[in-house]
Amino acid sequence: MPRATIHLIAAARPNFMKVAPLYHALAAEDWCEPLIVHTGQHYDANMSDAFFDDLGLPKPHIHLGVGSGTHAEQTARVMVAYEKILMEAPPAWTVVVGDVNSTMACTVAAKKLCLNVAHLEAGLRSRDRKMPEEINRLLTDVIADLLWTPSPDADENLRHEGVPEEHIVRVGNIMIDSYELMRPRIEAERTYDSLGLTPGAYGVMTLHRPSNVDDKAVLGGLVDSLTALAADLPLVFAVHPRTHKNLDAFGLWSKLEAAPGIHLTEPMSYIRFMGLVREAKMVVTDSGGIQEETTYLGIPCLTLRDTTERPITVSQGSNRLVPPAELAAAAAKVMAGDWPTGQKPDLWDGHTAPRIVADLKGRLCVPTGGA
Ligand code: UD1
Repeated sequence: MPRATIHLIAAARPNFMKVAPLYHALAAEDWCEPLIVHTGQHYDANMSDAFFDDLGLPKPHIHLGVGSGTHAEQTARVMVAYEKILMEAPPAWTVVVGDVNSTMACTVAAKKLCLNVAHLEAGLRSRDRKMPEEINRLLTDVIADLLWTPSPDADENLRHEGVPEEHIVRVGNIMIDSYELMRPRIEAERTYDSLGLTPGAYGVMTLHRPSNVDDKAVLGGLVDSLTALAADLPLVFAVHPRTHKNLDAFGLWSKLEAAPGIHLTEPMSYIRFMGLVREAKMVVTDSGGIQEETTYLGIPCLTLRDTTERPITVSQGSNRLVPPAELAAAAAKVMAGDWPTGQKPDLWDGHTAPRIVADLKGRLCVPTGGA
Protein backbone atom coordinates (compact mmCIF):
# COMPACT_ATOMS: atom_id res chain seq x y z
CA MET A 1 0.00 0.00 0.00
CA PRO A 2 1.42 3.47 -0.82
CA ARG A 3 2.26 5.53 2.21
CA ALA A 4 -0.12 8.39 3.06
CA THR A 5 1.47 11.81 2.65
CA ILE A 6 1.02 14.14 5.61
CA HIS A 7 1.95 17.81 5.32
CA LEU A 8 3.20 19.43 8.52
CA ILE A 9 2.98 23.21 8.17
CA ALA A 10 5.88 25.02 9.81
CA ALA A 11 5.93 28.79 9.42
CA ALA A 12 7.14 30.80 12.36
CA ARG A 13 9.32 30.29 15.41
CA PRO A 14 6.63 28.98 17.79
CA ASN A 15 5.57 26.38 15.19
CA PHE A 16 8.86 24.54 14.99
CA MET A 17 8.77 23.00 18.47
CA LYS A 18 5.18 21.86 17.81
CA VAL A 19 6.04 20.23 14.49
CA ALA A 20 9.27 18.54 15.63
CA PRO A 21 7.96 15.80 17.98
CA LEU A 22 5.16 14.99 15.54
CA TYR A 23 7.55 14.81 12.59
CA HIS A 24 9.86 12.43 14.47
CA ALA A 25 6.96 10.23 15.58
CA LEU A 26 5.39 10.06 12.10
CA ALA A 27 8.74 9.47 10.38
CA ALA A 28 9.11 6.28 12.45
CA GLU A 29 5.83 4.84 11.04
CA ASP A 30 5.60 2.72 7.89
CA TRP A 31 2.08 3.76 6.83
CA CYS A 32 2.78 7.45 6.26
CA GLU A 33 5.28 9.92 4.90
CA PRO A 34 5.45 13.24 6.76
CA LEU A 35 6.60 16.23 4.69
CA ILE A 36 7.58 19.51 6.31
CA VAL A 37 6.15 22.50 4.46
CA HIS A 38 7.92 25.72 5.56
CA THR A 39 5.94 28.76 4.46
CA GLY A 40 8.88 31.12 5.06
CA GLN A 41 6.92 33.42 7.42
CA HIS A 42 10.03 33.48 9.61
CA TYR A 43 13.29 33.41 7.66
CA ASP A 44 16.16 34.84 9.75
CA ALA A 45 18.63 32.11 10.71
CA ASN A 46 18.04 32.70 14.42
CA MET A 47 14.23 32.61 13.98
CA SER A 48 14.15 29.46 11.84
CA ASP A 49 17.30 27.45 10.92
CA ALA A 50 18.56 27.43 14.52
CA PHE A 51 15.32 25.69 15.57
CA PHE A 52 15.52 23.10 12.80
CA ASP A 53 19.09 22.31 13.92
CA ASP A 54 18.25 22.12 17.63
CA LEU A 55 15.14 20.01 17.08
CA GLY A 56 16.84 17.55 14.69
CA LEU A 57 14.49 18.42 11.83
CA PRO A 58 15.53 17.83 8.22
CA LYS A 59 15.58 20.73 5.79
CA PRO A 60 11.96 21.51 4.80
CA HIS A 61 10.78 19.19 2.02
CA ILE A 62 8.80 22.09 0.53
CA HIS A 63 9.64 25.80 1.04
CA LEU A 64 7.14 28.47 0.03
CA GLY A 65 9.46 31.42 0.78
CA VAL A 66 6.70 33.97 1.45
CA GLY A 67 8.59 36.28 3.88
CA SER A 68 7.11 39.29 5.72
CA GLY A 69 4.32 41.67 4.73
CA THR A 70 1.04 43.09 5.95
CA HIS A 71 -1.40 40.52 7.29
CA ALA A 72 -3.32 40.34 4.02
CA GLU A 73 -0.15 40.21 1.89
CA GLN A 74 1.42 37.46 3.95
CA THR A 75 -1.79 35.42 4.22
CA ALA A 76 -2.50 35.75 0.51
CA ARG A 77 1.04 34.78 -0.52
CA VAL A 78 0.87 31.63 1.63
CA MET A 79 -2.54 30.70 0.16
CA VAL A 80 -1.41 31.16 -3.45
CA ALA A 81 1.85 29.26 -2.96
CA TYR A 82 0.34 26.42 -0.93
CA GLU A 83 -2.62 25.96 -3.25
CA LYS A 84 -0.18 25.24 -6.12
CA ILE A 85 1.50 22.53 -4.06
CA LEU A 86 -1.86 21.02 -3.09
CA MET A 87 -3.06 20.93 -6.67
CA GLU A 88 0.12 19.22 -7.87
CA ALA A 89 0.14 16.54 -5.17
CA PRO A 90 -2.68 16.59 -2.59
CA PRO A 91 -1.72 15.05 0.76
CA ALA A 92 -3.92 12.68 2.77
CA TRP A 93 -3.89 15.24 5.60
CA THR A 94 -2.57 18.74 6.17
CA VAL A 95 -1.60 19.36 9.79
CA VAL A 96 -1.48 23.01 10.89
CA VAL A 97 -0.22 24.09 14.31
CA GLY A 98 -0.68 27.12 16.55
CA ASP A 99 -2.22 30.39 15.46
CA VAL A 100 0.05 32.27 13.07
CA ASN A 101 -1.03 33.71 9.73
CA SER A 102 0.27 30.65 7.86
CA THR A 103 -1.86 28.34 10.05
CA MET A 104 -5.04 30.00 8.85
CA ALA A 105 -3.82 30.53 5.27
CA CYS A 106 -2.93 26.86 4.71
CA THR A 107 -6.19 25.74 6.29
CA VAL A 108 -8.24 27.90 3.93
CA ALA A 109 -6.24 26.81 0.86
CA ALA A 110 -6.64 23.11 1.71
CA LYS A 111 -10.31 23.26 2.68
CA LYS A 112 -11.23 25.14 -0.54
CA LEU A 113 -9.84 22.07 -2.31
CA CYS A 114 -11.89 19.81 0.01
CA LEU A 115 -8.76 18.31 1.56
CA ASN A 116 -8.46 17.07 5.16
CA VAL A 117 -7.05 19.49 7.73
CA ALA A 118 -6.13 18.78 11.34
CA HIS A 119 -5.36 21.64 13.75
CA LEU A 120 -2.92 20.95 16.54
CA GLU A 121 -3.39 23.31 19.54
CA ALA A 122 -7.02 23.91 18.61
CA GLY A 123 -9.67 25.59 20.75
CA LEU A 124 -7.54 28.21 22.51
CA ARG A 125 -9.34 31.56 22.85
CA SER A 126 -8.21 34.86 24.35
CA ARG A 127 -11.59 36.45 23.44
CA ASP A 128 -9.62 39.49 22.28
CA ARG A 129 -10.32 39.95 18.60
CA LYS A 130 -7.75 42.73 18.39
CA MET A 131 -5.12 39.98 18.47
CA PRO A 132 -4.36 38.74 14.94
CA GLU A 133 -3.83 35.26 16.40
CA GLU A 134 -7.39 35.17 17.76
CA ILE A 135 -8.73 35.75 14.26
CA ASN A 136 -6.47 32.99 12.96
CA ARG A 137 -7.65 30.57 15.69
CA LEU A 138 -11.34 31.24 15.06
CA LEU A 139 -11.10 30.89 11.29
CA THR A 140 -8.93 27.79 11.43
CA ASP A 141 -11.09 25.94 13.94
CA VAL A 142 -14.38 26.65 12.22
CA ILE A 143 -13.30 24.87 9.00
CA ALA A 144 -10.69 22.29 10.08
CA ASP A 145 -11.90 18.66 10.13
CA LEU A 146 -10.04 17.52 13.19
CA LEU A 147 -9.27 19.58 16.30
CA TRP A 148 -6.48 18.33 18.57
CA THR A 149 -6.70 20.24 21.84
CA PRO A 150 -4.26 20.72 24.74
CA SER A 151 -6.69 21.26 27.64
CA PRO A 152 -10.35 20.96 28.76
CA ASP A 153 -10.99 24.72 28.34
CA ALA A 154 -10.16 24.34 24.65
CA ASP A 155 -12.67 21.46 24.30
CA GLU A 156 -15.32 23.63 25.96
CA ASN A 157 -14.63 26.59 23.68
CA LEU A 158 -15.07 24.41 20.62
CA ARG A 159 -18.29 22.85 21.93
CA HIS A 160 -19.70 26.33 22.58
CA GLU A 161 -18.90 27.26 19.00
CA GLY A 162 -20.86 24.26 17.76
CA VAL A 163 -18.01 22.00 16.71
CA PRO A 164 -19.30 18.40 16.57
CA GLU A 165 -17.99 16.28 19.44
CA GLU A 166 -16.41 13.72 17.08
CA HIS A 167 -14.09 16.39 15.64
CA ILE A 168 -12.57 17.23 19.05
CA VAL A 169 -9.76 15.06 20.37
CA ARG A 170 -7.82 16.07 23.47
CA VAL A 171 -4.23 15.03 22.88
CA GLY A 172 -2.35 17.21 25.40
CA ASN A 173 0.41 19.76 24.95
CA ILE A 174 2.88 18.99 22.19
CA MET A 175 5.36 21.64 23.46
CA ILE A 176 6.05 19.41 26.43
CA ASP A 177 7.06 16.60 24.04
CA SER A 178 9.70 18.94 22.58
CA TYR A 179 11.01 19.75 26.04
CA GLU A 180 11.20 16.11 27.03
CA LEU A 181 12.85 15.13 23.72
CA MET A 182 15.52 17.76 24.25
CA ARG A 183 15.74 17.57 28.05
CA PRO A 184 19.27 16.09 28.26
CA ARG A 185 20.67 18.81 26.03
CA ILE A 186 18.65 21.55 27.76
CA GLU A 187 19.92 20.41 31.16
CA ALA A 188 23.52 20.32 29.89
CA GLU A 189 23.24 23.86 28.52
CA ARG A 190 24.95 26.61 30.54
CA THR A 191 23.65 29.74 28.81
CA TYR A 192 23.75 31.61 32.12
CA ASP A 193 27.51 30.99 32.47
CA SER A 194 28.21 32.58 29.12
CA LEU A 195 26.28 35.67 30.30
CA GLY A 196 28.07 35.76 33.67
CA LEU A 197 24.87 34.95 35.60
CA THR A 198 24.11 32.65 38.53
CA PRO A 199 21.30 30.03 38.36
CA GLY A 200 18.22 31.26 40.22
CA ALA A 201 19.47 34.85 40.33
CA TYR A 202 18.32 36.33 37.04
CA GLY A 203 15.15 36.91 35.05
CA VAL A 204 14.37 36.18 31.40
CA MET A 205 12.39 38.58 29.29
CA THR A 206 10.70 38.39 25.87
CA LEU A 207 8.36 40.84 24.20
CA HIS A 208 6.90 40.86 20.70
CA ARG A 209 3.10 41.33 20.69
CA PRO A 210 2.10 44.22 18.41
CA SER A 211 -0.05 45.62 21.28
CA ASN A 212 3.09 45.94 23.44
CA VAL A 213 5.78 46.86 20.93
CA ASP A 214 4.21 48.75 18.02
CA ASP A 215 3.22 51.89 19.97
CA LYS A 216 5.97 54.24 21.15
CA ALA A 217 4.28 55.27 24.43
CA VAL A 218 3.44 51.67 25.40
CA LEU A 219 6.90 50.33 24.57
CA GLY A 220 8.53 53.32 26.31
CA GLY A 221 6.53 52.59 29.48
CA LEU A 222 7.58 48.94 29.38
CA VAL A 223 11.24 49.90 28.93
CA ASP A 224 10.97 52.08 32.05
CA SER A 225 9.44 49.22 34.08
CA LEU A 226 12.12 46.80 32.90
CA THR A 227 15.03 49.07 33.65
CA ALA A 228 13.62 49.57 37.17
CA LEU A 229 13.26 45.79 37.66
CA ALA A 230 16.78 45.12 36.34
CA ALA A 231 18.21 47.28 39.10
CA ASP A 232 17.17 44.48 41.53
CA LEU A 233 17.48 41.37 39.35
CA PRO A 234 19.67 40.97 36.24
CA LEU A 235 17.40 40.49 33.22
CA VAL A 236 18.23 38.71 29.98
CA PHE A 237 16.16 40.25 27.19
CA ALA A 238 16.20 38.11 24.01
CA VAL A 239 14.95 40.65 21.50
CA HIS A 240 12.55 39.61 18.71
CA PRO A 241 13.18 41.29 15.30
CA ARG A 242 9.85 43.17 15.41
CA THR A 243 10.74 44.56 18.85
CA HIS A 244 14.32 45.36 17.84
CA LYS A 245 13.15 47.40 14.85
CA ASN A 246 10.70 49.36 16.99
CA LEU A 247 13.16 49.96 19.84
CA ASP A 248 15.52 51.41 17.23
CA ALA A 249 12.82 53.45 15.51
CA PHE A 250 11.51 54.91 18.81
CA GLY A 251 15.02 55.77 20.08
CA LEU A 252 14.69 53.32 23.01
CA TRP A 253 17.45 50.83 22.19
CA SER A 254 20.29 52.97 23.58
CA LYS A 255 18.33 53.50 26.80
CA LEU A 256 18.05 49.74 27.31
CA GLU A 257 21.67 49.18 26.36
CA ALA A 258 22.81 51.68 28.98
CA ALA A 259 20.56 50.27 31.75
CA PRO A 260 22.49 48.44 34.50
CA GLY A 261 21.46 44.77 34.84
CA ILE A 262 19.96 44.37 31.35
CA HIS A 263 21.60 41.83 29.02
CA LEU A 264 20.34 42.34 25.48
CA THR A 265 20.71 39.35 23.18
CA GLU A 266 19.60 38.23 19.73
CA PRO A 267 16.72 35.70 19.61
CA MET A 268 18.11 32.43 21.02
CA SER A 269 17.81 28.89 19.71
CA TYR A 270 15.44 26.53 21.53
CA ILE A 271 18.00 24.69 23.64
CA ARG A 272 19.93 27.81 24.61
CA PHE A 273 16.72 29.58 25.56
CA MET A 274 15.17 26.72 27.54
CA GLY A 275 18.53 26.17 29.26
CA LEU A 276 18.26 29.75 30.48
CA VAL A 277 14.56 29.60 31.41
CA ARG A 278 14.81 26.44 33.53
CA GLU A 279 17.21 28.15 35.94
CA ALA A 280 15.49 31.56 35.94
CA LYS A 281 14.05 33.21 39.05
CA MET A 282 11.19 34.51 36.92
CA VAL A 283 10.16 35.07 33.34
CA VAL A 284 8.54 38.26 32.08
CA THR A 285 6.89 37.79 28.69
CA ASP A 286 3.99 38.36 26.33
CA SER A 287 4.53 35.05 24.50
CA GLY A 288 1.93 32.28 24.39
CA GLY A 289 4.21 29.24 24.46
CA ILE A 290 6.42 30.50 27.28
CA GLN A 291 3.36 30.67 29.58
CA GLU A 292 3.05 26.91 29.04
CA GLU A 293 6.73 26.04 29.35
CA THR A 294 7.04 27.92 32.67
CA THR A 295 3.90 26.20 33.96
CA TYR A 296 5.46 22.85 33.13
CA LEU A 297 8.69 23.83 34.90
CA GLY A 298 6.92 25.57 37.86
CA ILE A 299 8.76 28.84 37.20
CA PRO A 300 7.04 32.15 38.01
CA CYS A 301 5.79 33.72 34.78
CA LEU A 302 4.63 37.35 34.67
CA THR A 303 2.66 37.79 31.46
CA LEU A 304 2.37 41.38 30.26
CA ARG A 305 -1.07 41.02 28.72
CA ASP A 306 -4.74 41.62 29.67
CA THR A 307 -5.91 38.23 28.44
CA THR A 308 -4.55 34.77 27.81
CA GLU A 309 -5.74 32.06 25.45
CA ARG A 310 -4.06 29.63 27.84
CA PRO A 311 -6.09 30.14 31.06
CA ILE A 312 -5.02 26.78 32.48
CA THR A 313 -1.52 28.23 32.99
CA VAL A 314 -3.13 30.69 35.43
CA SER A 315 -5.75 28.44 37.05
CA GLN A 316 -3.34 25.53 37.55
CA GLY A 317 0.12 26.81 36.72
CA SER A 318 2.69 29.43 37.71
CA ASN A 319 1.55 32.10 35.24
CA ARG A 320 -0.20 35.37 36.14
CA LEU A 321 -1.39 38.23 33.95
CA VAL A 322 0.36 41.39 35.10
CA PRO A 323 -0.49 44.92 33.92
CA PRO A 324 2.78 46.78 33.20
CA ALA A 325 2.05 49.22 36.06
CA GLU A 326 2.02 46.28 38.49
CA LEU A 327 5.21 44.64 37.26
CA ALA A 328 7.35 45.95 40.13
CA ALA A 329 4.89 44.70 42.78
CA ALA A 330 4.53 41.28 41.12
CA ALA A 331 8.31 40.89 40.78
CA ALA A 332 8.71 41.80 44.46
CA LYS A 333 6.33 38.94 45.35
CA VAL A 334 8.43 36.50 43.35
CA MET A 335 11.60 37.75 45.04
CA ALA A 336 9.92 37.25 48.43
CA GLY A 337 9.05 33.64 47.53
CA ASP A 338 5.35 34.51 47.49
CA TRP A 339 4.37 32.96 44.13
CA PRO A 340 2.60 29.67 43.38
CA THR A 341 4.63 26.94 41.69
CA GLY A 342 1.36 25.41 40.45
CA GLN A 343 0.90 21.97 38.96
CA LYS A 344 1.24 20.34 35.55
CA PRO A 345 -2.05 20.11 33.65
CA ASP A 346 -3.33 16.71 32.60
CA LEU A 347 -1.76 15.23 29.46
CA TRP A 348 1.16 17.67 29.53
CA ASP A 349 3.32 14.60 29.81
CA GLY A 350 5.57 14.34 26.76
CA HIS A 351 3.33 11.75 25.06
CA THR A 352 1.16 13.96 22.91
CA ALA A 353 2.86 13.03 19.60
CA PRO A 354 2.17 9.27 20.01
CA ARG A 355 -1.48 10.06 20.83
CA ILE A 356 -1.75 12.05 17.59
CA VAL A 357 -0.05 9.32 15.56
CA ALA A 358 -2.52 6.75 16.93
CA ASP A 359 -5.46 9.03 16.11
CA LEU A 360 -4.31 9.70 12.54
CA LYS A 361 -3.46 6.07 11.96
CA GLY A 362 -6.94 5.05 13.10
CA ARG A 363 -8.46 7.44 10.55
CA LEU A 364 -6.18 6.48 7.66
CA CYS A 365 -5.66 2.79 8.16
CA VAL A 366 -9.23 1.61 8.64
CA PRO A 367 -9.16 -2.20 8.74
CA THR A 368 -10.77 -3.67 5.63
CA GLY A 369 -12.37 -6.41 7.72
CA GLY A 370 -12.28 -10.07 6.75
CA ALA A 371 -14.00 -13.35 7.05
C1 UD1 B 1 4.43 35.98 14.40
C2 UD1 B 1 3.02 35.50 14.74
C3 UD1 B 1 2.83 35.48 16.24
C4 UD1 B 1 3.93 34.69 16.93
C5 UD1 B 1 5.26 35.25 16.49
C6 UD1 B 1 6.43 34.53 17.12
C7 UD1 B 1 1.21 36.11 13.20
C8 UD1 B 1 0.05 37.02 13.01
N1 UD1 B 1 2.02 36.43 14.23
O1 UD1 B 1 4.55 37.31 14.86
O2 UD1 B 1 1.59 34.87 16.54
O3 UD1 B 1 3.78 34.77 18.31
O4 UD1 B 1 5.36 35.15 15.06
O5 UD1 B 1 7.64 35.13 16.78
O6 UD1 B 1 1.36 35.17 12.45
N2 UD1 B 1 11.01 39.58 10.94
C9 UD1 B 1 12.34 39.46 10.71
N3 UD1 B 1 12.85 38.19 10.54
C10 UD1 B 1 12.07 37.08 10.56
C11 UD1 B 1 10.70 37.24 10.78
C12 UD1 B 1 10.18 38.48 10.97
O7 UD1 B 1 13.09 40.44 10.68
O8 UD1 B 1 12.60 35.96 10.40
C13 UD1 B 1 10.45 40.95 11.17
C14 UD1 B 1 9.87 41.58 9.93
O9 UD1 B 1 10.10 42.95 9.97
C15 UD1 B 1 8.39 41.33 10.07
C16 UD1 B 1 8.22 41.41 11.59
O10 UD1 B 1 9.43 40.86 12.13
O11 UD1 B 1 7.62 42.25 9.38
C17 UD1 B 1 7.06 40.64 12.12
O12 UD1 B 1 7.07 39.29 11.61
P1 UD1 B 1 5.69 38.50 11.42
O13 UD1 B 1 5.97 37.09 11.02
O14 UD1 B 1 4.77 39.30 10.57
O15 UD1 B 1 5.05 38.55 12.86
P2 UD1 B 1 5.68 38.26 14.30
O16 UD1 B 1 5.63 39.52 15.08
O17 UD1 B 1 6.99 37.55 14.21
